[in-house]
Amino acid sequence: MTVFEAIESRRSIRKYSSRPIEPEKLEKIAEAFRLSPTAGNGQNWKLYIVKTEALREKIRKVCMREPSFVTEAPTMLVFCGLKQSVMTNGHRVDSVDVSIGAAYAILEAWELGLGTCWMASYQEGDIKAALSLPEGASVVAITPLGYADEAPEARARKSAAEVVEIL
Ligand SMILES: Cc1cc2nc3c(=O)[nH]c(=O)nc-3n(C[C@H](O)[C@H](O)[C@H](O)COP(=O)(O)O)c2cc1C
Repeated sequence: MTVFEAIESRRSIRKYSSRPIEPEKLEKIAEAFRLSPTAGNGQNWKLYIVKTEALREKIRKVCMREPSFVTEAPTMLVFCGLKQSVMTNGHRVDSVDVSIGAAYAILEAWELGLGTCWMASYQEGDIKAALSLPEGASVVAITPLGYADEAPEARARKSAAEVVEIL
């Protein structure tokens, strides 16, 4: 699968099988995160791979609307920044760096046959408390990770003419 094939075929998965994830696949996904670029190569970030059932249940409880797929999937990925600073362009470096790392990890997961669903419907403080994360951490994104138990249709996207402009 090429990078573009992964980009084109990836879907958000909201129904998972309980099939365990092979450790070498988790390692590869972690590598995709670790090797992704950061501003000034700062790497002030961390990926938490949550496998423990009790912790996944804690996360499910604080997710808004309590989505069942959080505990259906055998693993949750929690993408965090460790330092909050603002770049020259005014954007927060942790939000940008961690989002890039999460996107790389999600695409690598898809290449390996694993589904994810980027989630932002949580209060940051609740996830930090659930996992006892450091005070200064920012929880930029969380996602279940597991084998899909559904094959969703592609969701519509705006046309290239609407989202791309050549100047
Ligand atoms: C920043 C961001 C936040 C999202 N938050 C949620 C969420 O809280 N719950 C959820 O079910 N999906 C969430 N999604 C998934 C989007 O709904 C999904 O990516 C979008 O509908 C396009 O579908 P696709 O990923 O299958 O292409 C989020 C996606 C992004 C990029």
